[in-house]
Amino acid sequence: MKRKYLIYILIFSASYSCSYNSEDDLTDDIIVNVVTYEDNIKTIIDNNCIFCHSNPPTNGAPMSLTTYLDVKDAVENRNLIGRISATDASVMPAGGQRLPQSIIDLVIQWQAEGLIEN
Ligand code: HEC
Repeated sequence: MKRKYLIYILIFSASYSCSYNSEDDLTDDIIVNVVTYEDNIKTIIDNNCIFCHSNPPTNGAPMSLTTYLDVKDAVENRNLIGRISATDASVMPAGGQRLPQSIIDLVIQWQAEGLIEN
């Protein structure tokens, strides 16, 4: 009889600590999962696009991508996501290598979440 109680206590405390942990993880995930211009997108653009899409733009690039509004406008009106996702010669960065898919996916997620600034 004593042994049975001990097992119940063990099961109870094990399941309690499990559910507590997963609640913790869930909260972390939600925070990390929001993509913002300031935290994620600006660095991607600075590292891969500003070489030509500076202000003023160089090397024949038609617009700058130096501010939040520049990049937002390019997503909404200049097919930025289509251009970084392209698998032909139109791919951006121009003349360079297509960005890793994980980076492209971040930009797609940024658009899906509403192009949040910060
Ligand atoms: C080596 C210079 C260079 C780099 C680096 C570069 N671009 Fe471009 N980009 C251009 C040129 C030149 C054009 C205009 C010709 C064209 O549309 O292909 C252009 C056009 C574009 C357009 C279409 C604009 C329009 O109105 O049609 C988008 C969107 C774009 N670039 C986004 C990007 C992004 C995002 C990056 C970084 C991932 C990037 N570019 C990196 C040179 C560059």
